Amino acid sequence: MARFKKILLTGIRGQVGRSLQQPLSALGEVIAVDRQQLDLTDRDAIRRVIREVSPDLIVHPAAYTAVDRAEAEPDLAFAINAVAPGVIAEEASRVGAVLIHYSTDYVYDGHKSAPYVESDKTDPLSVYGKSKLAGEDAIRAVALPHLILRTSWVYGPYGKNFMKTIIRLATERDALRIVADQFGAPTSSLSIAEATAVAISRWQDELSGTYHLTNAGRTSWHGFAQAILADYEALQTDRGWPVSRVKSEEIGAITTADYPTPATRPKNSCLDGSKLKQAFGIDMPDWRVALERVMHALELESPPV
Ligand SMILES: NC(=O)c1ccc[n+]([C@@H]2O[C@H](COP(=O)([O-])OP(=O)(O)OC[C@H]3O[C@@H](n4cnc5c(N)ncnc54)[C@H](OP(=O)(O)O)[C@@H]3O)[C@@H](O)[C@H]2O)c1
Repeated sequence: MARFKKILLTGIRGQVGRSLQQPLSALGEVIAVDRQQLDLTDRDAIRRVIREVSPDLIVHPAAYTAVDRAEAEPDLAFAINAVAPGVIAEEASRVGAVLIHYSTDYVYDGHKSAPYVESDKTDPLSVYGKSKLAGEDAIRAVALPHLILRTSWVYGPYGKNFMKTIIRLATERDALRIVADQFGAPTSSLSIAEATAVAISRWQDELSGTYHLTNAGRTSWHGFAQAILADYEALQTDRGWPVSRVKSEEIGAITTADYPTPATRPKNSCLDGSKLKQAFGIDMPDWRVALERVMHALELESPPV
């Protein structure tokens, strides 16, 4: 099993960062930093922290993830998602560290009818997607062993996400209408963290490259919302939580055109995970199974709203 002495982990208050803390601690000493300890808009701070910590592995889930806001803040999105990963890669290379970075399905335009493979042409539709693609390119431009893990539709027990929003809206509102013509794989931050730990434990420099890492299967945002409420309704009964006003089968289906957003999203966000499976032997759980696990990982005392 590959072993790393010092692992620098960014973005520990985010969904993936927080989920990574425990699995990474089984693989080495984790030095975890949040925005206060490492502001990614500050290149000197990035260089200083990496030199001080001198890790042999950097795991970097921190990112600018406000997809719609990015349309109005392109400079900030690019500073965090494009410039910072390049500086991290340069500094990682200098101290001899391996880098694991996360990217997104939004690097594709979504016009393909089948799941995307890593060699498919990228053509992001949004500022966020463009900034993430530029971050990938900045890492690839530095010759260092790395993994770029493209994931999609991330949710989990920690932080803000679609799952928690749906649960909240279903308790606050009398009706819910969700987009039913964008397809992808909801991916649990717990699954991402577990798969990352397996990839690290099986690390070999020749496996360096870009991989798709999502839960298996496919649904629409509407299908995801229905599954969330169905699972949540089962928990409500178990735990005596307040009953939501909208039931899973009552969620209305709308089109993307009915729900305009500042950022354009791909219609097809499905990513083929075969390359990851072949290289690292990682078989990702189906999104439905992963959702049940996240629901059960929620705090027992109170609903997640
Ligand atoms: N969320 C998704 O649906 C999704 C989909 C595909 C790919 N991804 C990718 O997956 C990775 C993990 O995403 P996630 O869902 O875990 O994101 P998240 O929950 O939004 O967390 C992002 C983290 O980055 C930190 N951050 C933002 N700006 C920063 C700055 N200037 N300096 C330092 N830290 C900063 C945030 O800090 P604060 O807590 O202080 O704000 C937050 O902890 C990212 O690379 C993302 O692009 C996400």
